[in-house]
Amino acid sequence: MGRAEKVVLAYSGGVDTSVCIPYLKNEFGVKEVITLAVDLGQGDELGPVQQKALDSGAVESLVINVQDRFVKDYAFPAIQANALYENRYPLATALARPLIAKTLVEVAEKYGADAIAHGCTGKGNDQVRFDVSIGALNPKIKILAPAREWGMSREETIAYGEKFGIASPVKKSSPYSLDRNLLGIAIEAGPLEDPWTEPLEEVYAMTKPISETPNEPEYIEIGFETGVPVSLNGKAMDGVQLIGKLNEIAGNHGVGRLDMIENRLVGIKSREIYESPAMIVLIHAHRDLESLTLTADVTRYKRGIEETYSQLVYNGLWYSPLKAALDAFIQQTQERVSGVVRIKLFKGNATIVGRKSANSLYSLDLATYGSEDVFDHKAAEGFIYVWGLPTRVWSEKIRD
Ligand code: ARG
Repeated sequence: MGRAEKVVLAYSGGVDTSVCIPYLKNEFGVKEVITLAVDLGQGDELGPVQQKALDSGAVESLVINVQDRFVKDYAFPAIQANALYENRYPLATALARPLIAKTLVEVAEKYGADAIAHGCTGKGNDQVRFDVSIGALNPKIKILAPAREWGMSREETIAYGEKFGIASPVKKSSPYSLDRNLLGIAIEAGPLEDPWTEPLEEVYAMTKPISETPNEPEYIEIGFETGVPVSLNGKAMDGVQLIGKLNEIAGNHGVGRLDMIENRLVGIKSREIYESPAMIVLIHAHRDLESLTLTADVTRYKRGIEETYSQLVYNGLWYSPLKAALDAFIQQTQERVSGVVRIKLFKGNATIVGRKSANSLYSLDLATYGSEDVFDHKAAEGFIYVWGLPTRVWSEKIRD
């Protein structure tokens, strides 16, 4: 076929991406496969993954740690946007894909590759996110998706790999499909495909069951500067460290589990289990700090922007003109979103119990019911006269 000579393959070390290596060479006529494993804090040891690619026939096997970029350029903007897809999912997988795409394009350009390959199937969102992101970053690069075409069952895929010296998975493979990074885990498939079936405790890896969480609440304080989390319990931390630590603390209290039916871009409804302790706490805390530091109209207008933003990210449009325009709006709103939020973690709940900011728009003099009250009560009368005028006119009219 000879569709491409030199290909950079997004590599995870799993069966599908490993089989992609001989498949690209034999069925697609590719001469050289360079694999790229991107370290997004998935917690796997990537050394063996690197060797596995070479054993499977790659000419070069790269591992690149992008955790810093992931947090600064993807997770933090998503927190500033309070980005929750369908009001719940904090987009851990969806945020990773544009960065993987970017790293793939950078490597392809550096090595003079004419194509990028990935192991996504044709049913998910991830193929869309990769293909659209790669196309936006370098429209000249070809995209190959062998697993979208090969039509092999799991057993056939393993058998194909074995023919080319790829060992079949040692452990009995889990019935679940997992995608993990620093921001969280997405768990699908197996018994979870029945939306009526409660997930077994075994699916969870980042959060404790309530029966094992501490019997005393734990209070934490998160400091924000211009909408970005910068400290935990008064200690300044870089983003990767802060999210890692907060995953541990909140997960220990059973905070961060989600069980939802979600609408994929490709039209399918799927049942998803997520664990995302740090992101969920950070978005709730951030939104609370906004309620203290933003005016009512900006807060309300931003809600609509947030929903559109979350859909764009979910639907693979991270690199798009609309997303860039929404980013500009969101950045402008974050200028004064600085301060500290106090959160109580207890038995699966993260409850905001305090917030403070040098930019606070909350005025005790105006809000108080005590003697310090400076609000002009008499002024309310004229305001209500004007506010209620259209309703009174309407009421008289319908009585005619
Ligand atoms: N449904 C989620 C999303 O689209 C999670 C996808 C997990 N990806 C995977 N390859 N298992 O963001």
